[in-house]
Amino acid sequence: MKICRYFLTILYVALIISCGNNNQNYEQKQPNPSGLSDFELENGIGPVKEKLALGEIDPILVQKGEEIFKAKCAACHKLDERFVGPAQRYTAERRSPEYIMNMILNPEEMTQKHPTGQKMLAEYLAPMTNMNLTKDEARQVLEYLRLLTKEGHEKNITPIPIFRNQN
Ligand code: HEC
Repeated sequence: MKICRYFLTILYVALIISCGNNNQNYEQKQPNPSGLSDFELENGIGPVKEKLALGEIDPILVQKGEEIFKAKCAACHKLDERFVGPAQRYTAERRSPEYIMNMILNPEEMTQKHPTGQKMLAEYLAPMTNMNLTKDEARQVLEYLRLLTKEGHEKNITPIPIFRNQN
């Protein structure tokens, strides 16, 4: 009888421990099924691994960014119209600055591994091309996109839905 109770106690303890472990695993996996870090979920996957310190919009960066955009991005992106890719007017509002730079610098991984990138690829079907910008050039394009958003609000330009089934 005593031995029986002894085994039951062991069984009980083992059960509690194993349940505890399961719960722990469950909680660890639950908030982030994609396996990305919280930073990557918000800021994308790529060479930009820290938050940027952004100040006021810098007109010199904007000018360089606009030139790059016209030469390397306009083939697929319009500002206020859906094209091969999404309209770029309000990208700077929709995504974090770091996310935008990682998308420009690392579109392959972004559309394969990031849940937002995957959704975008599923919507636009064509994969965004890596235009081989340097980090500095991507930063200049980001500045241009920041200005586009600011101007959009000043001029009351209506945002274009990025998903077709969205109003
Ligand atoms: C060959 C066409 C093509 C070129 C060139 C291109 N893009 Fe894209 N871009 C896309 C497509 C398509 C998507 C949507 C995701 C996908 O399908 O890969 C996209 C997505 C994006 C996104 C993410 C938008 C969001 O809301 O998530 C940003 C930012 C972006 N592009 C910026 C740029 C910039 C800046 C350039 C120029 C350096 C550029 N793209 C060049 C086709 C292109």
